[in-house]
Amino acid sequence: MIDRPPSPQDARQDRRVLWVTAATVAGSFGVAAAVQSTYIYGVIAPTWSGVQAWTRVATNLVTVAVFVLVLAVWRQHLRSSARDLVTGIVLSAAVCAIVRVLAQATLGVYPHLTRDTSIVEMATGFGVGVVSATFATWTMVSGRRLRAQAWTSQQLAVERALALRALEDEEVRVRRDVAEGLHASVQQRLVLAVAQVAQVGRRLRAGTAAPGDAELLDEVCATLDQVREQDVRGMSRLLYPDQLEVGLVPAVRALLRRVPSSVATRLDVEPAVREMDDPVTPALAPTEKLLAVRVVEEGIGNALRHGNPSRLTITLGLESGQLAIGVDDDGEGVPPNAQRSGTNRLAERLAVVGGTLELVGLDGAGTRLTGRVPVAGAEPGA
Ligand SMILES: Nc1ncnc2c1ncn2[C@@H]1O[C@H](COP(=O)(O)OP(=O)(O)O)[C@@H](O)[C@H]1O
Ligand SMILES: [Mg+2]
Repeated sequence: MIDRPPSPQDARQDRRVLWVTAATVAGSFGVAAAVQSTYIYGVIAPTWSGVQAWTRVATNLVTVAVFVLVLAVWRQHLRSSARDLVTGIVLSAAVCAIVRVLAQATLGVYPHLTRDTSIVEMATGFGVGVVSATFATWTMVSGRRLRAQAWTSQQLAVERALALRALEDEEVRVRRDVAEGLHASVQQRLVLAVAQVAQVGRRLRAGTAAPGDAELLDEVCATLDQVREQDVRGMSRLLYPDQLEVGLVPAVRALLRRVPSSVATRLDVEPAVREMDDPVTPALAPTEKLLAVRVVEEGIGNALRHGNPSRLTITLGLESGQLAIGVDDDGEGVPPNAQRSGTNRLAERLAVVGGTLELVGLDGAGTRLTGRVPVAGAEPGA
């Protein structure tokens, strides 16, 4: 659950709820008790009938006012720990009890206020104070909880919307890259190949085939082969990595096969990951595998582009229910003023599913990229 930072509006609302509830409950008790003593007990005990109803009501209302004042001075509406809240309740009830007896003595509610009567009145005042302050505090705390729940669900909705946005952005980026690839590379090469084939065709029809035409057709074949091998394959990998449907480990192996042979590669896979990646009983979701492959791609790409390494080590492990993907190289290491770009984009994608990405320089030389992808099918604590 996300904690909501308290705001001044919240404090004002809590204060209003607390004061109004405390005053209403205690005031109702006070007025009811005054009316009851005056009219009912007055009939039973004639000596009580001498006291006016307004004196009793005034006594109780003064007590209620002081009672609410104590809650205000103690700042009960700003307290949150159970100990502070209970202290506020006991304190306000104790003052309520004392003030009530003092007010009764001052306003002459009893002609002769005896010790026993004082004790009973004090106990009653204390009891009413505890009930009123507890009810008011409980109402205030319940309101706080409702507010926190509403805020949390609002936050979750915002997070979901942001996550969706990040995924959409990523999809737009991939579409743009594929569209650019199709337009800039595939289309241009094909336009050239079509023109060359058409030229040879025209010459063949006219019976003026040149000696170099066979080489020209060979060139066209080579171009088409390149388009197939580089552009079409590259774009299809952009959309979906090779071998991913077979499993994560085969997909990573396919990536490593594309690393130049001058760089030694090594893949370490923990048995737990191997088990989860078993094609017969796959426990990794396609999105989890895809993200893991994207981490390896980014790590290898960075190492080859920026690090000039001689060795690359990929590790696939399982830590606390997360797939841990490591790409280590022994290259030049991350320069201090490095501008993050690809790793930032990937980190955002991982964050959408609760994952992380870390790029660190290794002691000595080299770089380590570590990605973590939460795995839904992982045993807890695995
Ligand atoms: N394996 C690496 N070896 C050396 N430098 C690296 C490596 N990985 C990242 N860097 C540095 O960190 C920067 C940020 O990397 P990244 O966020 O992936 O952005 P880019 O799009 O430039 O690859 C790179 O420009 C590079 O300077
Ligand atoms: Mg990069």
